[in-house]
Amino acid sequence: MLDEAIKLAAEVTKHAYAPYSEFPVGCVIIDQTNEMHVGCNVENASYGLTMCAERNATGNAISSGAKQFKTIIIASREAVTPCGACRQVLAEFSSPETEVILLDLDGNQRERHSLTSLLPHQFKL
Ligand code: THU
Repeated sequence: MLDEAIKLAAEVTKHAYAPYSEFPVGCVIIDQTNEMHVGCNVENASYGLTMCAERNATGNAISSGAKQFKTIIIASREAVTPCGACRQVLAEFSSPETEVILLDLDGNQRERHSLTSLLPHQFKL
């Protein structure tokens, strides 16, 4: 299951639309029922309209009925951590147990974090 999700996260980077930054990112979210939801970054000529992979995956997950995120897998060239905006959006559907796994573009695992460690003192209503 996790192996499959890791492979998929690396695979979805190939769908990234990143002609401006040339920095493709892929994300797979595993929800509370072990369903997988993908997202990639989608850039725009009006740069500020770019949408990150994690937020596109979140939109897909919630649109498909996901309620809680168990695992978030992100693939990118330098196995980067999610940006601040994405951390806040992911936190909305995460718990202290939610894990973030960072991969390089070949799907090699580089780092593991809890979402809480990436975004301590989260804003939640
Ligand atoms: N990007 C993501 O998809 N996720 C992040 O968490 C950080 C940045 C994308 C946005 C843009 O298309 C490219 O990476 C370079 O910033």
